[in-house]
Amino acid sequence: MFFKLSLLGCLLPYATSLILNTPTSAVAGESMVVSWVAAPDDPNFALLVNNEGFSSPVFLPDDADIDPHASTEITVSLVDFPARSGYFLEARNTTDLGIIYAESAQFTMTSP
Ligand SMILES: *[C@@H]1O[C@H](CO)[C@@H](O)[C@H](O)[C@H]1NC(C)=O
Repeated sequence: MFFKLSLLGCLLPYATSLILNTPTSAVAGESMVVSWVAAPDDPNFALLVNNEGFSSPVFLPDDADIDPHASTEITVSLVDFPARSGYFLEARNTTDLGIIYAESAQFTMTSP
């Protein structure tokens, strides 16, 4: 765990202030509100959901280029995601997905 956390720290080379709020309600197969807090100079981002059980993070549909200043939240679909714990959201550079701007804390998707 410590290793993973410090590794993630090394993958954050850009000083963005974007904060991805941790979802308070996530039901697999339904929709979920994702909200954030952005500073004026924060860039557009791609929104992905990750889980330590996944081999790679998954784009939330249609949300590959989000302007953090156009709104403070969007609604995304959780169709095709299994109910389980350990999910977290990631905001990444829209063209270089190796650049992670922000991560939420972990949350659980419950069964409908
Ligand atoms: C996103 O990644 C591209 C390609 O590496 C880079 O040119 C660009 O500056 C990055 N954008 C930000 C806001 O960091």
